[in-house]
Amino acid sequence: MNDRMFSFIGGTEGPWRVERVMAVKGDTLAKPARVKIASGLIPDATDNTWTLRGVTSNQRYTTQEENKKLVSVQEGLNRPEATCAALIPIRKNAAWWAMSQDQRRDILEKHSKHIEIGLRYLPAIARKLHHSRDLGEPFDFITWFEFAPTHTHEFDELLHALRASEEWNYIDREVDIRLVRGVA
Ligand code: HEM
Repeated sequence: MNDRMFSFIGGTEGPWRVERVMAVKGDTLAKPARVKIASGLIPDATDNTWTLRGVTSNQRYTTQEENKKLVSVQEGLNRPEATCAALIPIRKNAAWWAMSQDQRRDILEKHSKHIEIGLRYLPAIARKLHHSRDLGEPFDFITWFEFAPTHTHEFDELLHALRASEEWNYIDREVDIRLVRGVA
């Protein structure tokens, strides 16, 4: 086991209280009371609502220039003021996965400006991308974002822009889960 593997456990425990679960596309997930993030790939347990597993990885699409910009502005997780989070598992369709890397990069950035748009919301939004596809999970990606309550509107604006992009035509399942830290 390596330290890049994570499990998002929806159940009755954990520092994150679930405010809402919204299916954006495809089937929803049940709404648990709380979410806990654990290291490693934890198997499903009967007393949990669901467990989503993923592994952090190297970048696939970013240029050296984009990487430099990201590294210079992005902030890490666990900032004390970032008490809001979004857990957004995403699955892309067969047409996406049938394309070559250069075709996917063209859609992600040349046509959709995913990175350019995303960069405008840094450092307010901190993010972490987990890959799940090769683990045989129901989603291809588990995305996690943290921000201060005052930046909720900006986060929603960012989502609105990304969901209107060509890249999102290749997404066939997306669930938007919003959480708040440390509230009983
Ligand atoms: C906060 C601003 C954001 C920035 C700066 C950002 C940046 C990036 C970058 C650089 C990548 C490419 C990683 C690679 O090279 O492998 C990426 C991938 C991805 N991002 Fe974002 N992103 C942001 C927001 C979002 C949001 C709000 C969502 C979802 C709701 C999202 C979903 C994804 C997904 C699913 C991928 C993987 C795409 C794939 O490999 O097909 N991102 N993002």
